[in-house]
This record gives sequence, C-alpha cells and structure tokens, in this order.
Amino acid sequence: MLAEKKITVGITGGIAVFKAAQLVSSLKAGGFEVNVIMTRSAQEFVKPITFQVLSGNSVRTELFDPMRGVVQHIELATHPDLIVIAPATANVLGKVANGIADDLLTTVIMAASCPVLFCPAMNVNMYNNAVVQRNIATLRELGYEFVEPGTGRLACGVAGRGRLADLELIIEKIKSLVSPCRDMEGLTVMVTAGPTVEPIDPVRYITNRSTGKMGYAVAGAAAGRGAKTLLISGPTVLKPPDGVELINVETAAQMYEAVMKRYPDVDIVVKTAAVADYRPKDASSQKLKKHEGPLSLALVRNPDILAELGGKKNKQVLVGFAAETSDLEKNSLQKVTGKNLDFLVANDITQAGAGFGSDTNIVKFVYPDGAVKQMPLMDKTVLARRILDEALALRRKRE
Ligand code: PMT
Repeated sequence: MLAEKKITVGITGGIAVFKAAQLVSSLKAGGFEVNVIMTRSAQEFVKPITFQVLSGNSVRTELFDPMRGVVQHIELATHPDLIVIAPATANVLGKVANGIADDLLTTVIMAASCPVLFCPAMNVNMYNNAVVQRNIATLRELGYEFVEPGTGRLACGVAGRGRLADLELIIEKIKSLVSPCRDMEGLTVMVTAGPTVEPIDPVRYITNRSTGKMGYAVAGAAAGRGAKTLLISGPTVLKPPDGVELINVETAAQMYEAVMKRYPDVDIVVKTAAVADYRPKDASSQKLKKHEGPLSLALVRNPDILAELGGKKNKQVLVGFAAETSDLEKNSLQKVTGKNLDFLVANDITQAGAGFGSDTNIVKFVYPDGAVKQMPLMDKTVLARRILDEALALRRKRE
C-alpha cells in the first residue's frame, strides 16, 4: 500500500540535513515514492546528488526552471500524498506562517492540497525565540502538522531542545498521515480531557492548568483509527477532533455523571482529564463580598471517577494518567494498583516539554506488576497513538 504513496521531502538549510539523507533512504526502503526539493541553503550542506541517489528521482531546486516549465510548483503541490519538511528551519517556518512564497519549496507548500508536516531543527535559542514559537502556534492553528524537535547536545555545542526528532518518530507520524489504519473499528473509546472547574460563587472557581491537548490528541487518534469515540471534556479552547462525539462538562460531578452513564458500552477508557479532587462545600449563589481579614473556604472531596471505574471494571481496558511533581514511579504504581487500571501514563510535570499546555509530553507507562516503560519526548499526537497501540493490544488479549 505504501508503494502507492508519494512523499515530497522538503529540505532546508540546517546541519540536520545529514539526518534527512537517512530519512529519505528509510522512506524509499519503506516503499514510498520519494521526491526531494532542496532550498539554496540546504545545498550549502549537502549536494542534491546525494538525495537524487537515495530517492531515485531527480532533485528539484529552482522555482524558475526552463527545463520543467513555470508551473512545476503546481504539479509538485498536487502530486504527493504528504509534504514533509525536514529539517525545517526557523526561516521556512516564518515564511510559511506569514504567507511568503519566494522559492520552489515555499511555493509548493503554499499550493499544497495534501497535509504538510514540519520537523523543526535549530539552535535552542532560536527554537525558544518568541517569534519562532508564535509562527509554530500559527501554523498549528492553520492545520499544519508537526513532529517537535528532541532534546540533547546540539551541533552548535550547547545542550537543549532543537535537534531533529528521532527518525522513528518522524516515520511513525508520516505513516499515520498517509495511511491511517482503521484497526479500532468496532470499538468504543471514551476519553476524558481538560480540567474541571468547581464554582465558588457565580464569578470565581477552582480549576487547574490542563488545556485538553493531551486528551484531544487521544480522541483524535482513536476516531482516526475508526473507533466510536466519546470525548468528555472540561472547558477548553480547542476545536474538537473530527468524528468524535463531544460531551461538554464543567464540574467533576458532571464529568462523573457523563462517564458513568456511558461506561457500560465502552471498550477502552483513557482518562487524561485533570479532575479536581475537591470542590467548595457550598458554592454561593451570590458574589462573595470582600471584608477585613482572611477568608476560609471549606472544601469537600469529589468522587474519584477513575477509582470507581476500576471497581466496576468488566471487559474494559482502563488507562489512567498521573501528573506528578515528585516520586513519579512510586506514586504512579500506587495509583495503577489502587484504581485497578491496566496501565497508567505518568508525567513529571516539572520537566520541560512535559505535562500541561505543551504540544509534547515525556511519560512513563507504569503497569500493575511494577513494570515501567520510559517514552522519549514526543509530540502529544504521536504519544496518543502509542497509548492506543498499548490499550488495543491489551483489549485484543481479553477477547
Ligand atoms: O491537558 P494538557 O494541557 O494537555 O495536560 C495534560 C495533563 C498534564 C493534564 C495529562 O497529561 C495528565 O497528567 N492528566 C492527569 C492529571 C491528573 O489529574 O492526575 P491525578 O494524578 O490527579 O489523577 C490520576 C488519575 O485519576 C487521572 O487519570 C484522573 O483523570 C483520575 N481522577 C483523578 C481525580 C478524580 N477525582 N477523579 C479521577 O478520575
């Protein structure tokens, strides 16, 4: 099936160009038809002949190429199933985010009718630069796909975030974009996402930092793989993924009701939501007025939804999350056994690139027998697939 898939790899000028050679070689070996476009800067690092040999196709470099005609960018933009930019420099991200098409690659991206995947790689300070981050956020909002860079020693000698993501993660993402598999058809997956909000009065509430990104990624991946997907979400600003049934809730009590109602018909539950453990004992119907001296707020426990699901577990595969700031494995093991889970996805939210709000996460899968699987930093969309792979394998064993 992959042999029918056409990938255009856009190569821009960064030292990670040498890894792009391996990427092109692996894609070709994996059965894809690969075409390469190089920018001028990319050719300063490696000559086109390298990519011509590895891809088996001539490499395009010029927008105005009399031998190929003036509309070659339209043909290149409509021909592939996916365009992958690896490495993607700060420059190409900035150009595309701002509508600049001044060379063959950016013109092709602008005219593309297929998904476009950026794999950024650059110096850590460039990557963290607010303008670069703004451009990435803009591109994500516009529907461009990303595999975020990894952390480690960079070619410039400093350590930090900015090295091209592992090729394995890039190839996994490419495969999910070009040939979405429907291996979850016939299953029902319930995902909870986002925070809960617990009112104090009509104006104030208690909540937490969850944005819903992790849960929405899981729900999107499940729906993409053909599962009937219920997304029970606390308040977020995210657009729900295509094909999911969205149930909006605010409080832990409402999430509890919604989850319990649908639980009997569900095969897999992934509980990414950050549920408030406590709520104000008596939410005031009137706005509380300030007065001299401190104010005490009495809190009462919310139901532990996941623990209750664990108690009622029948055929379902139950996946919990844990957001920890210390003793990650010890606390997670307590949760996975105490709540009768199949496994737990544990994130240390003090780590850069993990936890609340980021587009990436760094997690460990923790199992009831104490086994622990460390995952590298990866995009939440890629992690979502890994979680579902694991849940699906456990579900199949139970059939
Ligand atoms: O939404 P993002 O910005 O992308 O951030 C992702 C995340 C950090 C929220 C996510 O990765 C995560 O860690 N979610 C779980 C956060 C959490 O509430 O952890 P916990 O250790 O408090 O809860 C453990 C598990 O029990 C969770 O699956 C939770 O959904 C569940 N729980 C907790 C309390 C409660 N009253 N009912 C529950 O069901």
